[in-house]
Amino acid sequence: MAHLQHFGWFFGRGFGPQAWGRADYRWNYAWQRPDIYQQSARELEQAGFDLLIIEDALSLGSPETLNLRVNSAYGGPKHDPLLLAPYLFAATSNLGVAPTVNAGAYPPYLAARQFATLQHLSSNRFGLNVVTDVKSARHFGLDELSHDAAYDRAEEWLSSVRRLWHSWAEGAYVNNQATGQFADASKLDAFHHEGEYFTFDGPLNALPFDDGVGDPVVVSPGGSGRGLAFAGHQSDVQLALASLDTETVRVYRQKIHDAAVAQGRLASDINVLFVIKPEIVDSVSEVDRLVLESEHPSDDVLVSVLAAQSSDLETDLTVLDLDRPIGPGVFAPHVSQGTINNLVGRGGDLENDTLRQLATRKARKGRLADGSGFVGTAAQFADFVEGLGETADNDGFIINGDLHPVTLHRMLDQVVPELRGRGILRSSFGGGGLRANLTDF
Ligand SMILES: Cc1cc2nc3c(=O)[nH]c(=O)nc-3n(C[C@H](O)[C@H](O)[C@H](O)COP(=O)(O)O)c2cc1C
Repeated sequence: MAHLQHFGWFFGRGFGPQAWGRADYRWNYAWQRPDIYQQSARELEQAGFDLLIIEDALSLGSPETLNLRVNSAYGGPKHDPLLLAPYLFAATSNLGVAPTVNAGAYPPYLAARQFATLQHLSSNRFGLNVVTDVKSARHFGLDELSHDAAYDRAEEWLSSVRRLWHSWAEGAYVNNQATGQFADASKLDAFHHEGEYFTFDGPLNALPFDDGVGDPVVVSPGGSGRGLAFAGHQSDVQLALASLDTETVRVYRQKIHDAAVAQGRLASDINVLFVIKPEIVDSVSEVDRLVLESEHPSDDVLVSVLAAQSSDLETDLTVLDLDRPIGPGVFAPHVSQGTINNLVGRGGDLENDTLRQLATRKARKGRLADGSGFVGTAAQFADFVEGLGETADNDGFIINGDLHPVTLHRMLDQVVPELRGRGILRSSFGGGGLRANLTDF
């Protein structure tokens, strides 16, 4: 039997000139203004999506490779997604919004106060996607931490934020007009925190959260051992990036559940939502056409694939010989191993594969219907989603894409009725905010 799953949207290139230069974007394309995002957020809500997560990068990257980032707007500029959130809340009433927040960038007191404010302003629909990137440290006058130390700092940061949120104990907020008492100061926790990374005092100058609502939802995307342990301790949603076959999904879910149980939590405290970027087309013959066409990509297609990769890798691959191996030495030591692995792909070999082979594998498309890729009709996508719900007890998906209304229509117009007809996608909201969206079923 099909069961309800949770769906969200990952605004994958963040609050910037996404898809700049694409012809179909020359319609109402004012990326700096809130309008297109508000329209898209409304449509996600109408579709029955629980939440929108907004990617972010604080930095334009290394000074030596700025051109790779900005020349075609692959990697910037980006505006601050936290400040977009209130506009999206104003346009919707059930959708949760979780901007990406780097735990190294906001001191805990400022973070706790801003997030508490957004939780109140949105009637409990705020969430934060906690990331630990350290490359932007220099913009803040901070030292660059190691991978694991950045997670340690994020643990201290989030525990501090939570302690501040709860520095108004039960009974502190009285709100009794008859007695003339608004709050009871004796129940405010004026604690002093002196930790490894942060020193500050409480209590927080913000109201506690409404009864029974809980804290803002914490999302985490890290997939390393340390990242999964962080999720087990702190997260309500794991933004999971993995191959989407039954066995891999099962194993990934088990790891998150084990990490939660190891921290004294319940496996069911975390929704594991897998990132997916389907390409939905109208017919099976169109699926076949696209897949066959991608078998032998032209050099122009390969160069455009490499241009997008070059921005993330901070390495200009477009100027290298397509018919020679590039080898690991081409990347500066600071380039993320995860991003390099993503270029190489499963079964690839960085030492021996030519650049053409690497780019061709990236350019090739496969079918949702047989698990070889992500091109499919709406019915094939629904089969895929329903299948993983049954075979791997999957909680749901986060669709990765930009946030132009045209993209949403392409993705959702046929998919939503198909999923809803099968009882996989909700048809109404309970109305309790983001945490409630995630626990309605
Ligand atoms: C699906 C997904 C989304 C991510 N979104 C962001 C982001 O918006 N901003 C960011 O700085 N890092 C982002 N990251 C990177 C993670 O925060 C983290 O730095 C990275 O995954 C390394 O951690 P790990 O070694 O635990 O995987 C994302 C990672 C994944 C898998």
